[in-house]
Amino acid sequence: MQPARMPQSAVPYVYTAIAPTHDWLAVWVEAKARAFGLHQLAVQNGEHVLEVAVGTGLSFPRLVAANPDGWTEGLDRTPAMLRQTTRRMQNAPHTQFGLRLGDAYALPYPDNSFDAVLNSYMFDMLPVADFATVLREFRRVLKPGGRCVCINMTVPTHWTERLWDTIYALFPPLLGGCRGITLAPSMRKAGFADVQRTRIVERTFPSEVVVGRAS
Ligand SMILES: C[S@@+](CC[C@H](N)C(=O)[O-])C[C@H]1O[C@@H](n2cnc3c(N)ncnc32)[C@H](O)[C@@H]1O
Repeated sequence: MQPARMPQSAVPYVYTAIAPTHDWLAVWVEAKARAFGLHQLAVQNGEHVLEVAVGTGLSFPRLVAANPDGWTEGLDRTPAMLRQTTRRMQNAPHTQFGLRLGDAYALPYPDNSFDAVLNSYMFDMLPVADFATVLREFRRVLKPGGRCVCINMTVPTHWTERLWDTIYALFPPLLGGCRGITLAPSMRKAGFADVQRTRIVERTFPSEVVVGRAS
């Protein structure tokens, strides 16, 4: 695992620049992992659901559509990314959702608020030393037994997958500061139970979908 080379303080600047073009690469290499992650989250109508680092909202409409009578909350620390989600949701058929600016390190929600938390392609830009801290914050806002699904760029196991970590090593902002990581050990360390990891490669881009249950 390479060390994180883009400081959190750079995130709003880098993602303000990336916001208009973020989805080009994301829909090309992350669609399968995203679809699998949403399937694993298995949102039920009537639940309280949170997506941390909602970004441009590539998953958000699907969360809201699965939960028309519940409440779905999306949070991100970059206003430009959040604006893309707001635009995407303008004509959504369901209105039971909220979007807010916030930080995954200090979620602005009380303990035991959510049945399910989704997060995609955010931990892969954080320092490994922070993984368990942020995951404990996810666990805090989840109800006991609540589901957590995290999707990340993961470490390469085949030479064709190394291209992406090489791009990161040369110029981290080109990949939005994301490098291959393995989150499952930190999820266990943060107190999640039944942790399971699935590896999904799309067009040589390696992702992992890590699932856990708040205990
Ligand atoms: C690669 S994008 C992924 C966006 C979306 N989850 C997706 O899968 O398309 C990473 C997102 O994480 C957000 N982010 C990074 N650090 C964050 C933090 N500490 N708290 C909340 N959002 C954060 C960025 O602003 C950006 O929108």
